[in-house]
Amino acid sequence: MDNNTSLIGRIERGEDISAEELSRLISSHTAEDLDYICGKANAVRKRIYGDDIYVRGLIEFTNYCRNDCLYCGIRRSNKNADRYRLTREQILDCCETGYVLGFRTFVLQGGEDGFYSDDDICRIVSEIKEKYPDCAVTLSIGEKSRESYRAYYNAGADRYLLRHETADNAHYAKLHPNELSLENRKRCLYDLKDIGYQTGSGFMVGSPYQTADTLAEDMLFLKELDPHMVGIGPFIPHHDTPFAAEKAGTLELTLFMVALTRLMLPHALIPATTALGTVAFDGRERGILAGANVVMPNLSPRDVRKKYLLYDNKICTGDEAAECRSCLERRMNGIGCRIAVTRGDYKQ
Ligand code: 5AD
Ligand code: FES
Repeated sequence: MDNNTSLIGRIERGEDISAEELSRLISSHTAEDLDYICGKANAVRKRIYGDDIYVRGLIEFTNYCRNDCLYCGIRRSNKNADRYRLTREQILDCCETGYVLGFRTFVLQGGEDGFYSDDDICRIVSEIKEKYPDCAVTLSIGEKSRESYRAYYNAGADRYLLRHETADNAHYAKLHPNELSLENRKRCLYDLKDIGYQTGSGFMVGSPYQTADTLAEDMLFLKELDPHMVGIGPFIPHHDTPFAAEKAGTLELTLFMVALTRLMLPHALIPATTALGTVAFDGRERGILAGANVVMPNLSPRDVRKKYLLYDNKICTGDEAAECRSCLERRMNGIGCRIAVTRGDYKQ
């Protein structure tokens, strides 16, 4: 057995792996290693979640953002971004549409937009939970104080997504402006878990200045945090950001990292991301076959979809919610899976 194969076996058995070993595996893996690890990860997904793929209805409710992350198309310095906000009524309309389509999780995602007070967010969350008590609400609205996180939780929010983006301090500083720190990002994640949220973290693959070493740190951080959800997608440049001329992350390395995550955190909820579907026409299917078990189609109103552009060439921005839903159903059926009409909670 060659070195990488035996290392993958050790990871699968839950053994501790050093940063050096992870880094070597990430930088030296071959096409055969990728096939091998995807097969293992897919088997682990099946053992824990069967053929069920969970769906989340993504509602991108504001593209205003006070932050200025260098990679992100809705960063505050992007004067070309056409800004919008959805009203409470519009958000509830999205949920209504989504419920009929079989969504039992609604993800409210937005830039860090001070327009919505904590009370506004709480009111939106509690109204959704009142109308749809059988649904989960996920928030993805960035870094907040512990008190704010607690208030949303008390209002009924079940889950929270906040990718750590990179677990390496120096790399973090190259992707973000000075006022943002990895330290506060981690504080947020530990607060969220502590409060009781099903908590999601994750990172982009192929972001500028990323190395096999920083990816190894990402994996070790995930192991330590032990989140319920892990979002991993390729970095894709956005034409109105400082990273406009950078290269996108590859399908292959993203799949490798998804598979590695499934082996290291067997129970995690892992989406086959829209970004993965953007770099390859069958990217989301391949994500599932690399161990992912969640898809997150867009429920945002059609007229705002093209405005929530974190990166270029994002797919599905011209489709109706129902079209995305049936498209994904078809795609999942095509690889022997089915979309489950359930909240799709973390399985212990
Ligand atoms: N390419 C890929 N993913 C991106 N994100 C932000 N900008 C980009 C980009 N240019 C990801 C970040 C963020 C999530 C909502 O989208 O990881 O956490
Ligand atoms: Fe808004 Fe990055 S620019 S989170």
